[in-house]
Amino acid sequence: MGLEKMPTRWAVSDERGRKIFSSQELDSLKQGRVPKHVAIIMDGNRRWALRQGLPRFMGHWEGAEALHDIVKAASELGVQTLTAYCFSTENWKRSAEEVESLMEIFRLYLELRRETMLAEGVRLCAIGDITHLPGAVRQALEETRKVTSSCQTINLVLALNYGGRDEICRAVRCLALDIQQGTIRPEEVTESLLSGYLDTSSFGDPDLVIRTGGEVRMSNFLSWQTSYAELMFVSEPWPEFTPRHFLEAVRLFQERERRVGGL
Ligand code: IPE
Ligand code: IPE
Ligand code: MG
Repeated sequence: MGLEKMPTRWAVSDERGRKIFSSQELDSLKQGRVPKHVAIIMDGNRRWALRQGLPRFMGHWEGAEALHDIVKAASELGVQTLTAYCFSTENWKRSAEEVESLMEIFRLYLELRRETMLAEGVRLCAIGDITHLPGAVRQALEETRKVTSSCQTINLVLALNYGGRDEICRAVRCLALDIQQGTIRPEEVTESLLSGYLDTSSFGDPDLVIRTGGEVRMSNFLSWQTSYAELMFVSEPWPEFTPRHFLEAVRLFQERERRVGGL
């Protein structure tokens, strides 16, 4: 990304004191098409840690810090929903030690960020099969959801124990039950009806998906919802992805023509 071309005078600072946008730049981006829903595959934490000579969990910890800055930047731009892929249904295959440290980071993030989220109008939500998460994470999640439930600036949706295929299976299971009980007839099953059974039913489909860390694949993320999303793959590992990169991604999104099968 041509970050070197970005102006160096920034008007809005992030939590770590770094300048995010000049007000002029923010205004010009806001006048363009701002994606309502941005979804992010936050990849590259371990490779980043390895390069810094740090343990893996530090990569995940820095990743959690990076997320907060991006939420702030997205709010400034007027993005309504930011979905962050935090833990996939496949990530249980990692070592018990790594899974444990990830769960601990999720719990801490939810507890330590709760008041800031409330103050900044961030409504915390989750997708994925959270019934399999450790009790302490579920409890922290429920509490943060409750505390931030009336926030209106942005929805931060954490994808935890999330898999696109698993989500579709769970949705179809519920739908099959409704058909069995006679509340829905098979001929009534449409794309929009099925969408209503998905975890994302209240957020709509993402307009833009960004994957950091250089890999070019979806890794079971929002399989149904990304049929027409704009996809961006960036080389920076997630802990190095800053609001400036986010801003550049939105600028590139505004340059793309979205045909959705027409024109
Ligand atoms: C993403 O970073 C975080 C999770 C999948 C939980 P990784 O842990 O996949 O880091 P890399 O891709 O191996 O560097
Ligand atoms: C995707 O990253 C999952 C998350 C970012 C939470 P992975 O590192 O698990 O994906 P693969 O293994 O490269 O496909
Ligand atoms: Mg990875």
